[in-house]
Amino acid sequence: MNAMLNPEILQGSGFCTKHNTKEIIMGGFQGCPQCAVEYVNAANKQHGFEVQKSVREKHFAGAMIPERHKDAGFRNYITQLAGQKNALTQTANFAKKIVNGAIENLVMVGSTGTGKTHLACATARTLLAKGKYARYITSEELAQRIMKAWDKDTKDQSEQSVIHEFTQYDLLILDEYGLHDREKRLELIHKVLYSRYDACKATMLISNMTLEQLKNDLGDRLWSRFQHGGLTIIECNWKDARAV
Ligand SMILES: Nc1ncnc2c1ncn2[C@@H]1O[C@H](COP(=O)(O)OP(=O)(O)O)[C@@H](O)[C@H]1O
Ligand SMILES: [Mg+2]
Ligand SMILES: [Zn+2]
Repeated sequence: MNAMLNPEILQGSGFCTKHNTKEIIMGGFQGCPQCAVEYVNAANKQHGFEVQKSVREKHFAGAMIPERHKDAGFRNYITQLAGQKNALTQTANFAKKIVNGAIENLVMVGSTGTGKTHLACATARTLLAKGKYARYITSEELAQRIMKAWDKDTKDQSEQSVIHEFTQYDLLILDEYGLHDREKRLELIHKVLYSRYDACKATMLISNMTLEQLKNDLGDRLWSRFQHGGLTIIECNWKDARAV
């Protein structure tokens, strides 16, 4: 018989004062039978916590939030300026809507250092905490991912399957839009945006371009689709947070 699975139970010499019962010795355990039950329950509960924790960690890791913004939240976003207050309120509202199942888009444009990526990561974490799937990626990285798929030697993943992958998330955060090369790469990014529109998925698009430049860049067809169902537009046109 396997001693590990079926440990021998011996009568111990001790007495459990908590349960007024004679102790037993079972494997490495010594205590009364009631203590044994409590011990096993506590161990199972701890194991449950650990499994939950590991699932949660994997869920958060899948969002690929940049290390630099791992602590970025709504709570630590400073609102000294009216524009910052507006940006915080609008993004937090958007996050709440997506958590509640809305399918809407958000565009955040403006100068560098105004906390756009900060608010995007805060949004991602809010969603993740509620069990939603969020994914952060820069426009450049996304274009690279699709182009790598063309290289048959590296993987048999086709362009279509990468687009499919990025269509699945409840919220895709596409950051630094417009910093990548023009033409071909842009077309790839647009394919993902169209695919998300067709699949009724929410997207957050962030860019250092002006709103006008962004509209031109997306083109009328994509821009009108982007507005479908509701679009939040946030313009961040104040000075760098570190310079305030
Ligand atoms: N209003 C703010 N409150 C707190 N931190 C901020 C704020 N604005 C910017 N930051 C911080 O400044 C740094 C640059 O912000 P970031 O989100 O990367 O700007 P952007 O994406 O607009 O270029 C980050 O570390 C970010 O957390
Ligand atoms: Mg940024
Ligand atoms: Zn006991």
